[in-house]
Amino acid sequence: MCKQLKVGPRDSLQPVLSAILQIPLIAVFEISKQQKNMANAQQAKLSTAFYYLNDNFYCENSPVHQIENELEKTSGCDDDDDDRSATPLYIYSQAQLHRNIQSYKDAIQSAGMSGRMHIFYAVKANPNLHLMELVRKQNCGAVTVSGYELKAALNTGFVPEMILLNGNGKQMWEIRLALKNGCMLNVDSYFDAENIISVARQLQKTARVLIRVNPGLEQSSTPVHSYLSTALKNSKFGIPLHQFDQVLELLRAEHFIQVVGLHCHVGSTIRDAFIYSDVTRILLDIRQKLITQGYAHLKYLDIGGGLGIDYYHGTNQEQSPLSSTGELIQAIASLLPPDVEVIIEPGRSLVANTGILVTKVLGSKKSPDGGKNFVVVDAAMNDLIRPSFYQAYHHVLPVRKSISSEGTYDIVGPICESGDFLAVDRRLAQEPVKGDLMAIMDIGAYGMAMASNYNMRARAAEVLVDGNSWKIIRRRENFESLVRTMTAD
Ligand code: LLP
Repeated sequence: MCKQLKVGPRDSLQPVLSAILQIPLIAVFEISKQQKNMANAQQAKLSTAFYYLNDNFYCENSPVHQIENELEKTSGCDDDDDDRSATPLYIYSQAQLHRNIQSYKDAIQSAGMSGRMHIFYAVKANPNLHLMELVRKQNCGAVTVSGYELKAALNTGFVPEMILLNGNGKQMWEIRLALKNGCMLNVDSYFDAENIISVARQLQKTARVLIRVNPGLEQSSTPVHSYLSTALKNSKFGIPLHQFDQVLELLRAEHFIQVVGLHCHVGSTIRDAFIYSDVTRILLDIRQKLITQGYAHLKYLDIGGGLGIDYYHGTNQEQSPLSSTGELIQAIASLLPPDVEVIIEPGRSLVANTGILVTKVLGSKKSPDGGKNFVVVDAAMNDLIRPSFYQAYHHVLPVRKSISSEGTYDIVGPICESGDFLAVDRRLAQEPVKGDLMAIMDIGAYGMAMASNYNMRARAAEVLVDGNSWKIIRRRENFESLVRTMTAD
């Protein structure tokens, strides 16, 4: 899984791009199979909102075990036959969210791009309304991928003109909702263009659209998990270059369409700034071509989101993010003509390290040959699917440090699937024992957002910490909320 990236010969996109658009070639990556290290987890660098003080784990100024304790006491459930525990529990840091947004803003400012580079939060990463509102208050826009995400963005006060509805399968009601509210839309395919045109005509309203480009990369050229690559030759997203002219023809003829920009999202967990500069070059070349064809309103280049974070907290050099926010912004800024504005769509890099998943150890067991030490916890793949789905790494830390011996553990959940794990073969500095609380780090993005009710498990509560105060920003589900939509009124 560990990959070392290098810019290689510039020939992977030659056939497609040069044939169709005479676009210069973009970078190719050489992937080394070298595997490396896993250092002692507790030596790891923590994001600043989460830290130890006197062996207790804190979120901002609030001890995590105290939050769990108080929540349990106030659960309001006095039924011995029901779930009264506070865990699993998602805890987010407001200060960390602000810091993450500020780091983008600072980078934009120092690249001289203030007012010309817009942060559109990718709502899918974490659609909690309270977090969305905090992001909106920082003057960000929003990129949405469903009608309900769009409603959530509108309801939390995002400026409609700074909301983009994206998606390869938009339905008519979703397009209508976007157009009625004056939001922008991405055109993802020929049929999507037809649908947008049809709704715009019905409403007699001009649709401001960006065209999502699929540059047709090879898998080897996007060094991320294959599920997280979105601009491959065989990806379902965007308009392939060979269909580009056809879609343009359709849009050009339409009175109610205004093409305001181009979009490309290469994928997620990207660790190299040059991918973004390559995408920018591709989009600029296409833009040039469109300008010569008479497109006069091409204000935006939207280079998508996808910047990775340091899930390993410095314990694995090969998986550390090579790019910082600043590097990413610099890489793009230097290429831009003065009349172009850029949209970036970060999700993970804004919210991932704002959150932890707190889980309680239920017990432990060994495999018969002693090859595995299983630690069974009360969180599971329904709470955090990333390890099972992408073999993703999430750092695991004890909520209270104690003197104990090191060991290697699989941290697994109670779900009836062998793929239900949160960490595999993990070296921990301290043996987790029954009743211990553990923190699974960096779950602010695609944690709760991808949670499910599999095995009829109630989704966990979410808590937002602000200094030494905290509040519940989503209640824990219970049996009633699980069956509500199945039962007659
Ligand atoms: N823009 C578009 C068009 C996207 O499709 C995405 C993510 C983003 C922006 C935000 O990407 P981010 O900055 O968050 O990486 N469930 C996966 C991630 C799927 C991302 C899908 N698209 C995970 O847990 O890693």
